[in-house]
Amino acid sequence: MSAPSNSFQPDSTDLDRLHSAVKREKEDLQTGREPAPVLAMFLAMIVAVIAGGQLGTMTGGYSFGTSNPFGFVAGQDPRPGGGDDVVAMDPFQSAMKKGANSYAVCGGCHQGTGNGIPGQFPPLAGSEWVTGGTERLVRVLQHGLIGAITVKGQGYNIPGGMQPFGAAMSAGDLANVLTYIRNSWGNEAPMITKEMVEKVRSTEKRTAQWTMPDLEQYAKANVPGDIPAGPGATASAAATPAAK
Ligand code: HEC
Repeated sequence: MSAPSNSFQPDSTDLDRLHSAVKREKEDLQTGREPAPVLAMFLAMIVAVIAGGQLGTMTGGYSFGTSNPFGFVAGQDPRPGGGDDVVAMDPFQSAMKKGANSYAVCGGCHQGTGNGIPGQFPPLAGSEWVTGGTERLVRVLQHGLIGAITVKGQGYNIPGGMQPFGAAMSAGDLANVLTYIRNSWGNEAPMITKEMVEKVRSTEKRTAQWTMPDLEQYAKANVPGDIPAGPGATASAAATPAAK
């Protein structure tokens, strides 16, 4: 019997070789603990971004405009959602608020002060065009205005005049911005309603920009219709007749 041959004779080189084989292997995967596929992580990210955006837009019916403490009558629960008796903004206040936003469209020319730019853009503050007949004012915005005009005794005649806004703005937006300019910078005049703008729109045949002489017939006339709130309100007149 020959002595058992032992061909395996570990030395430092062999140890390295043996260990390198072990180290090359990855840990066995345990069921349920496999790494998530990259695609799944990517999809989760997309879902998180979209869902986050959705959450951001869902207010649960909360709006600062109607739920803020200042909207409550004094003495009532001032906490948001603390009662059903939130005082809704009246139509005039609401028109003024929306109109102020829409006025951004006009402010570039007529300026935030409503004073316009002398020699170029006529003023809206103190303008008889603004606080005068609503038949004329609505038409000016609906179809624009061109040629020589006078505002507060000053002549204006800018080439191209003012563009029409009838196509660009809804009847409601137009009504709100007109209510806003009629009640800003010291102006005070009854609100113009969406119904009034619609009334002018539905009967108006003109398509060209207006000129001052063509509008003369409307200078003092008012579009008929109820004025729900604000200066000159008529809507509640039947309920509470003015004292004679
Ligand atoms: C690009 C400049 C420009 C913009 C924007 C503009 N306007 Fe004018 N607006 C004019 C000019 C110019 C005239 C005078 C036209 C003329 O000379 O015939 C005028 C005239 C008027 C008038 C009659 C004159 C007066 O001063 O009372 C009213 C009212 C008016 N604009 C309201 C508005 C409102 C409201 C908006 C916004 C929805 C608006 N304008 C946007 C340039 C502009």
